[in-house]
Amino acid sequence: MIRQIRNAPQSVQNVVTYDAVIDVDNPDLKLRPGMTANVTFTYAEKDDALKFPNAALRFRPPAEIAAAAPRPERDRRLVWVLRDGKPKPVAIRTGLSDGSVTEVAEGTCARATRSSPRRSAPPGTTCRPLSGGRCSGPAMAGAPLLRLEDVTKIYRAGEVEVRALAGVSLVVETGEFVAIMGASGSGKSTLMHLIGCLDRPTSGRYLLEGREVSGLNRNALAEVRNRTMGFVFQSFNLLARTSAVENVELPLVYAGVPAAERKRRAAEALRQVGLGDRLEHQPGQMSGGQQQRVAIARALVGAPRLLLADEPTGNLDSRTSGEVMALLRGLSEAGLTVVLVTHAPDIATWTSRVLQLKDGLVVSDERQAPVPVGQPAPAGAIEVRS
Ligand SMILES: Nc1ncnc2c1ncn2[C@@H]1O[C@H](COP(=O)(O)OP(=O)(O)OP(=O)(O)O)[C@@H](O)[C@H]1O
Ligand SMILES: [Mg+2]
Repeated sequence: MIRQIRNAPQSVQNVVTYDAVIDVDNPDLKLRPGMTANVTFTYAEKDDALKFPNAALRFRPPAEIAAAAPRPERDRRLVWVLRDGKPKPVAIRTGLSDGSVTEVAEGTCARATRSSPRRSAPPGTTCRPLSGGRCSGPAMAGAPLLRLEDVTKIYRAGEVEVRALAGVSLVVETGEFVAIMGASGSGKSTLMHLIGCLDRPTSGRYLLEGREVSGLNRNALAEVRNRTMGFVFQSFNLLARTSAVENVELPLVYAGVPAAERKRRAAEALRQVGLGDRLEHQPGQMSGGQQQRVAIARALVGAPRLLLADEPTGNLDSRTSGEVMALLRGLSEAGLTVVLVTHAPDIATWTSRVLQLKDGLVVSDERQAPVPVGQPAPAGAIEVRS
């Protein structure tokens, strides 16, 4: 509890610092005279907040475009969203902030909350603030994030044909946390590859956010992948002798993001997975769970709308698996759609929907209340604080 805030604050480079006297419970005397402690005051919390990374709020287009923007009303500020390839100003009212993300109390669409202006909302899109971060609007026309219609995949190896998927129809909505299960060879990875635009179906339709992607060529698929998806694999696929922050930066290197911005976003993603104090550690200096969290940060750094994970806990012990699943759960609760493949029933209990595949068909599709999180996910991943 704050007992007193002293007068005469100090200002250094526009940061105003007040001295305060606080009361702290210290029953087992862990805090002793002379020790230094960090204290975080949470003065407000909100569930289901619609959030922007602060970087998106700071973004400015080239001067001539910025100069043409209208002045926002007094309690609003401008953010820039890409529409038809051009940055357009949108006035929003901001709410709570924790220094890395800010609540959008009124204004634009949840899709713009995915960090970079490149991910911004389509024209005419509106949103319901504070309603679980979901969008509605003409461009989306109520389309689910994924829709598969009677999708098949037949592999041909010489004379032999393998029907890996035999007609899968499936709808996944934004924010769902889905586990795909089934025996070895039942088609789980094939389905993930199709969902992840790593491969194309032999027949059937695949609509991503209402747009058919099944017929796109390789380059177009790669573009959709980069814009929409993050991938996590069983073997973490990190570069050895390369720091966590450099590993996480990699997708941004390929995307041509400038170095300083890359570093900042990679560090932010690592903080989001609870590894803010391991930025310079190399994979060999981290536990398996920490390495998988670095891989998750790398998947998150491009601000995907869909996170795909093929056996993300396959190489981890059960306690560490729990940590990784709690993290994925927190991300899903924050509005990210997560689809994972697992063999382990206890891993599937973390999710809210379980699909069972058999011989390339979905033989069961059940929604469930996920188990309570024994261990909370990192705060930054799930709530807006200040
Ligand atoms: N590139 C390929 N060429 C030929 N057949 C393939 C190919 N990839 C997968 N298959 C076959 O398709 C079927 C489904 O494979 P898939 O990898 O999707 O199974 P899975 O459910 O992920 O299995 P696991 O649990 O062992 O990873 C299997 O019979 C497999 O042998
Ligand atoms: Mg597989």
